[in-house]
Amino acid sequence: MNFINSAWQKELEPYQKNFFGQKKDKRITEWRELLSKLPTLKNKQIDLIDGVVILCDLDKKDLEDVKSLLLKFLPWRKGPFQINDLIVDSEWKSNLKWERFLELNIDLSGKTILDVGSGNGYSGFRMLGCGAKEVLCLEPNLMHVSQFAAINHFVESSEIKMLPARLEELNIPDPAFDLIFSMGLLYHQRNPEAHLKLLSSHLRENGIIVLETIIAPEDFGNALIPEERYANMPNVHFVHTELGLMHLANNMGLEIISKSTKQLTTLSEQRSTEWMPFGSLGSAINKDDRNLTIENLPAPNRQFFVIKNPSNLA
Ligand SMILES: C[S@@+](CC[C@H](N)C(=O)[O-])C[C@H]1O[C@@H](n2cnc3c(N)ncnc32)[C@H](O)[C@@H]1O
Repeated sequence: MNFINSAWQKELEPYQKNFFGQKKDKRITEWRELLSKLPTLKNKQIDLIDGVVILCDLDKKDLEDVKSLLLKFLPWRKGPFQINDLIVDSEWKSNLKWERFLELNIDLSGKTILDVGSGNGYSGFRMLGCGAKEVLCLEPNLMHVSQFAAINHFVESSEIKMLPARLEELNIPDPAFDLIFSMGLLYHQRNPEAHLKLLSSHLRENGIIVLETIIAPEDFGNALIPEERYANMPNVHFVHTELGLMHLANNMGLEIISKSTKQLTTLSEQRSTEWMPFGSLGSAINKDDRNLTIENLPAPNRQFFVIKNPSNLA
C-alpha cells in the first residue's frame, strides 16, 4: 500500500534503506555505524499516547549499552523518549508543547499529516498516538534524522517517515495533507508570507495548518524585528504579535480560527541536560529580569494558531 499516495511513495522510496539519501554530512558514517549496533528489542510494548515509551525485555547491562549508543547521537534537542528505565532527557520537554496542542481539541484520527521542521520526530510519534493515519516529518538537519532513525528502529512504525528536506524543496504539486504542522519555524523565516503560502499549497480541501510560534507583545505593532540576535539566536527575522500574525494570514486569504493561550517558555521546559550539554535558554535570558532576553527584548512566549483557507471554512 502507498504511503500517502503513489507520488509520495515514489519520492520516499530512496530513503527506505538509506535515511540520509544523497545528503552530505561528515557524521553520516558514524551514525550509520551506531544505527547498525542498536539491538533488536524483544517483547515490545509501545505507548505513544502518554509519551514516547518503549517497554521491552532488556537486561540492565544491555540497557546501559543502549544508553551509551544513544548518547553518541548528541545533542538531543527534542524528547523525552523512554526505553524501560532509560529516559532520553532532551533539552526541550516537548511533551509540554504537545499538551498545549491537545488543549486545542483537534481530532487527528485517520488524518494524513505533514510535520514541517519536525526535529527528531517527537511530535510526529505523538500524532500517531492520537490516531493519525500517516505522518510525514520534514527535517533538513541530518542530526535530527539520525535520532529519528534510532528511535524508529525501536518503535518500528511504518506509519511515520522522515524526509531529509526543506519545505522549499518539495516538488509534489498535488495537495495531500489534512493537517500541516509548522512549529517553531515562522520566526526563522526571512519571508513569512512565502512560508505560509507554501504550507497552504500542500493542504487538501478542508485541511488546516497548525502553527506554533513565538509571539511578541502588542506594543511591537505587527512584529518585533531583532537588530541582531533574539534570545541568543542569530537567525530570527520576525517575531509577530498576535495582531501582526492575523494581518499576515488575512492578507494571504487565510483565517485564524482558533488559538491557544500564550505560554512563557520556562527554564524547566528548555534547559541543558546530560543529553544536550550545551548552552540553552538559561544563557539566553536576562539574569536580573526573567521576562527579558539577554538583548533586553521580551522573553519568548509561545502560542498555537489554527489556520484555514476561508473557502474551506465549515
Ligand atoms: C526550532 S526547531 C522546531 C522543532 C519542532 N517543530 C518543535 O516545535 O519542537 C525548527 C526545525 O525546523 C527545521 N527547519 C528549518 N528550516 C526548515 C525548512 N525550510 N523546511 C523544513 N524544516 C526546516 C530545523 O532544522 C529545525 O529542526
